[in-house]
Amino acid sequence: MSFRLQPSAPARPNRCQLFGPGSRPQIFEKMAASAADVINLDLEDAVAPDDKPEARRNIIQAIGDIDWGNKTLSVRINGLDTPYWYRDVVDLLENADERLDQIMIPKVGCAADVYAVDALVTAIEAAMGRKKKIALELIIETAAGIAHVEEIAASSPRLQAMSLGAADFAASMGMQTTGIGGTQENYYMAREGQKYWSDPWHWAQTAIVAACRTHGVLPVDGPFGDFSDDEGFRAQALRSATLGMVGKWAIHPKQVALANEIFTPSEAAVTEAREILAAMEEAQRTGQGAAVYKGRLVDIASVRQAEVIVRQAELIAK
Ligand code: COA
Ligand code: MG
Repeated sequence: MSFRLQPSAPARPNRCQLFGPGSRPQIFEKMAASAADVINLDLEDAVAPDDKPEARRNIIQAIGDIDWGNKTLSVRINGLDTPYWYRDVVDLLENADERLDQIMIPKVGCAADVYAVDALVTAIEAAMGRKKKIALELIIETAAGIAHVEEIAASSPRLQAMSLGAADFAASMGMQTTGIGGTQENYYMAREGQKYWSDPWHWAQTAIVAACRTHGVLPVDGPFGDFSDDEGFRAQALRSATLGMVGKWAIHPKQVALANEIFTPSEAAVTEAREILAAMEEAQRTGQGAAVYKGRLVDIASVRQAEVIVRQAELIAK
């Protein structure tokens, strides 16, 4: 228990983050027209090394030219272990329109990685007289990132969201898989000739959720690589939502509707949450700390649980 109140995460919908390579400007308008809450224009791994300068130019032009509506507009820069990242930040903040909301830092391994980007962003914002303060989001996708996840979540007041990047995470951990998220063939329990698949991403997800919730950051599930497998995407996203994550990436436009559906509380869930709140209000009016709702106990903790669902639904409905 702590006397400190848990800080709220940013009050904006983050059900789906749609990615597209900065080197493929033909799809930018389609991304803007999509139903994703967040757009991530990529300068990192979806862009070949020789294409980085052109991708930067494409993105800078598109930030000002395209109508991105009310979406959160984010650019993924290159990692701090590359020669590209400083130029990404400098070019973006010296040249991009104030419409840019956020920068995503990949492969963050410690709080100082975020501090370094924050320092550079802060200096350029001041030098250029930029009015809007750029937010940061980052990816936990290395062994160091997950080992230091809590200090990373506390690293900067600019930090708004944190995603689990399954592919690089698996590589960094030495996991024996080439799958990007989802069920892994060899991760199962066995009994009496039956296999029961388990979830190798579970602990990393819960570590991220706990760190994020402690420091008021949005926890997000990253990519699901097999975009032909809707059932697998749905199962992965439902697990993430159940664990407290607020959204998931789409690496293909067909994943946007799936993510939006799963990370929007269903009408039935919202109705039940409101009924629990009403039952508890009634109980409190008659001096009771607990009540019975559909044959089960509800108390003050149930109110907090129900409020999570109602608040999320209201935020999305806005
Ligand atoms: N955002 C918006 N629209 C997209 C899109 C995206 N990320 N990817 C493809 N589209 C469009 C295509 O242009 C096509 O449009 P059309 O019907 O008007 O012709 C339509 O969606 C269907 O595309 P499809 O042919 O199925 O896919 P593709 O072969 O063009 O592209 C990928 C497939 C995976 C290469 C592409 O989706 C992609 O680049 N995804 C993002 C990768 C990325 O950024 N990774 C980094 C984060 S992990
Ligand atoms: Mg990655």
